[in-house]
Order: sequence, then structure tokens, then C-alpha cells
Amino acid sequence: MERRTRIKDALAGQPGAELTVRGWARTVRSGKGVTFIALNDGSCFASLQVVAEPVLANYEELARLGTGSALRVTGALVASPAAGQAVELAAREVEIVGPADESYPLQKKRHSFEYLRTIAHLRPRTNTFGAVFRVRSMLAQAIHRFFAERGFLYVHTPIITANDCEGAGELFRVTTLDMARPPLADGEVDYSGDFFGQATGLTVSGQLEGELCALAFGDIYTFGPTFRAENSNTPRHAAEFWMVEPEMAFADLMDDAALAEEFFRYLCRFVLDNCREDLEFFDSHVEKGLVERIGRLADSAFAMMEYGDAIRELQKATVTFEYPVEWGLDLQTEHERYLTEQVTGGPLFVVNYPREIKAFYMRQNDDGKTVAAMDLLVPKVGEIIGGSQREERLDLITARMGEVGIAPEGLWWYLDSRRWGSCPHAGFGLGFERLIMYLTGMENIRDVIPFPRTPRHAEF
Ligand code: 4AD
Ligand code: MG
Repeated sequence: MERRTRIKDALAGQPGAELTVRGWARTVRSGKGVTFIALNDGSCFASLQVVAEPVLANYEELARLGTGSALRVTGALVASPAAGQAVELAAREVEIVGPADESYPLQKKRHSFEYLRTIAHLRPRTNTFGAVFRVRSMLAQAIHRFFAERGFLYVHTPIITANDCEGAGELFRVTTLDMARPPLADGEVDYSGDFFGQATGLTVSGQLEGELCALAFGDIYTFGPTFRAENSNTPRHAAEFWMVEPEMAFADLMDDAALAEEFFRYLCRFVLDNCREDLEFFDSHVEKGLVERIGRLADSAFAMMEYGDAIRELQKATVTFEYPVEWGLDLQTEHERYLTEQVTGGPLFVVNYPREIKAFYMRQNDDGKTVAAMDLLVPKVGEIIGGSQREERLDLITARMGEVGIAPEGLWWYLDSRRWGSCPHAGFGLGFERLIMYLTGMENIRDVIPFPRTPRHAEF
């Protein structure tokens, strides 16, 4: 095939240039003796206007062309008289590569996000989802760039695992046992004959293995898929999502928060500088003022508050919350949103949570009641980052595991890291989809991942 010029490059080309583009017709408008085809190939938000005239051999066919058809167009760029585009393509030859008829579901009119979820296999061809998935791709690259620039080692932690890092019992089971006739021992499924010789599942976090690598390489990060069988049907939870987890040796909670803030602001700056056209679209069609909001964020210092102070702020609030507010209870999204939207008016670190509501690996503070935890909360989305300084003291972490009912034998390898060469270390997890929601204004996690997995949904 002859070289395909991306539409992004064609739109930046000079009048007179001869080129071949390939893409899908977004709209087809036939007028008197001319047909305009808006051709999009996903390389950028904008479509290229193709001008087809009756001299073309297949003009009759083109004038009846259906939205969604795949085309190859060869022609010359000419200065465009139409507003909003510098050039258009005067077609010399148009090949209909793959036609689409009127049963194609994405006809011109705007569709609701709910409807588009039912055709997730086609929605990447819409304006909104084209923009979302381009931003997603750019952000994934920016994440690697951020850590590479700072000398962090990229480690791949396992997806199949025998540990439940967060201890919340949300592991999806992985097994090759015959589900109709599983082997039993004392009335329970006996996994000793299973593929791995023990019960395994899909990882809920790469943190524990990440810690092992931080204690060898100093600064590391993981970035991969994460799975949680939590049956919560909310706009912020998916059963399969991506998480970025940096881990730093010789670092404490404040170092951790500093990294999280630098990271978050870097990503804000990055989308402003590199995804401008898509952001402008979100600003005008999804969330008014988005570009300005992200711009402010990229330049601001984040607030920090003790968990205890956050509780006092919430108790002072004149609004009524659905969930109770009391020292010792976890913050719900409504509380997180109140704090960031009404109290600080921007991102907020809440630090030092009660130990009872946090995972076993967090470092105990001297007050005996709290742990060195840190959540970054943002307006609209709530918790976007969860992190902590880790308990590096063998006796304390072993005791904590006992209290919450985690058998030390199952994590002997993790405890070894506290046995030899242990040191203060800290890290966090950023939910990649929540980041994309925050930076695009999209309000449902199902709309920022191409093929979302949520309770009862894994069709495509
Ligand atoms: O707060 P979480 O559970 O923390 C951890 O997993 C730690 N092991 C991370 C670490 O310290 N290395 O999850 C981290 C982030 C949350 O703040 C949230 O953004 C996202 O992951 N997250 C989810 N995103 C989408 N769907 C879900 N079901 C999510 N659960 C957590
Ligand atoms: Mg959390």
C-alpha cells in the first residue's frame, strides 16, 4: 500500500501537497454538484474535509455514501474557504474500502454515554471516546516519562498471585480445578492439586512485590492492571483498572506526599501541553472550565490535613451527610468531596488515619492509634491516590498481621524484607482511570476505559 498520511499531519500540511489518507467517514453532505466527506482516522480530534466532485468515476456512489464507511482518498491539499480549517482535500480518487449502510448505529446525532456503553465496540469512533482514549494513551506514556526522568526502575509485578495485599477479600479466583467437581478436604475446596498447588487469584495491588524491589533498587514503580471483585456499582469503581505504584526506600510519609504532588502536577501540565485539542473539546462539551481548572492545579500547592482535623471539619459542616462522621470511621466519597470542594477548594492530602480502617502494612504512629497513611483527595472524584509509609519494624508488622488475622507463613518472603536490611520506605497507588476522569471531566469510570469490567459486564 502507498504511504498513508495521518490526518493530523495532513491538516498541518501546505496547500499543493499531494497525499493519500485513509479513515472513516464521520459525515457525508451532498450538495449541488459536490459532496463533502468529513474523514477521521483517530490521529487527532479534527476531521479532514474531503471535497468530491462529479468528475470522479464513482461519484454517484460517493454521494450516497454511508456514515462510518472506510475510505482511501488521494488528492491535493487546497486552502479551505470554510471556517475552522486551513486546508481541505480535493479528491482525485476515492476508494470505498469498507462500506457502512444506514444500520450503522453511529449516525450523526448525539448519543448518550449510557447508550454508547452498550456499543463499546464502536464508541472509539465517536468524538468523545476518540478524545478520551487519545488522552489515556498520552497519559500512560507521560507516567513512564515522569519516572524515567527521576531514575525510578520500572518493575513488572505478577498478575496471578497468592496474596491479598489490601486484605479486603476481593480477590478474583484463578483456578484450573473442575468447578463441577472440585476436590474437597474437610468440606472445603482443596487447592493443593490446583495448577499452582495453592489458592491463587488476580492481584489487587503490586505493592508487596514492589516493596521487595524498592529494597534493592531504591526507587521503583509498577504500572499495570489490577483486579478487585468488589461488588460496588459506583461511577468510580471498576473490577479491572490500572494502577501506578511507586515505592521509595529511605523515604517517609512526607517524601511520599511530595512525590505524589509533583507527579500529579506534572501530569496536569503534560495534558495541557500535549492534549490541547482534546481538552478544548472536553471543556466545551463535557465540563465547562476544565482547561482553567487543570491549569490552576498545575501551579498550586496542595493542602494537607490530619485525619482528625478532617473529621472535625466534617462535623462542623452544615450539610447533612448520608454516612456518619465520627473519629474511627472511614471517609466516604461525599465527605471527600465536601472537604475538597467546600473546605480547601482543591486537592487535599489527608494523613494519619486510624489504624483500624487501613491495611496491615502501614507504619504505626507513636500515638498508638493512627498509621502513617496518606490519601490524596480531589474535587468531584474523591480519593485518587492512596499511599503510606510502610511498617519496616519486624515485630510491629508481625503483631499487626496477627491482630487482623493474616497468617505470617503466607507472607514469609515479605517478612524477610523486614528481617534483613529493612529501612523506612513509602509509596502510593494512583488509580489511572480516576486520573483520566479528573483530567477529562468524564464522570463515569466506564467511560474512560475502552472495555470496562464492572459487576455483570464483561461482554466486550
Ligand atoms: O487505596 P488503594 O486500595 O491502595 C492500594 O492498593 C495500595 N496498595 C497502593 C500503594 O500504596 N502502593 O488503591 C489505590 C488507588 C485508589 O486511590 C484509587 O484511585 C484506585 O487505586 N482504586 C480504584 N480505581 C478504580 N476502581 C477500583 N475498584 C479501585 N480501587 C482502588
Ligand atoms: Mg484507598
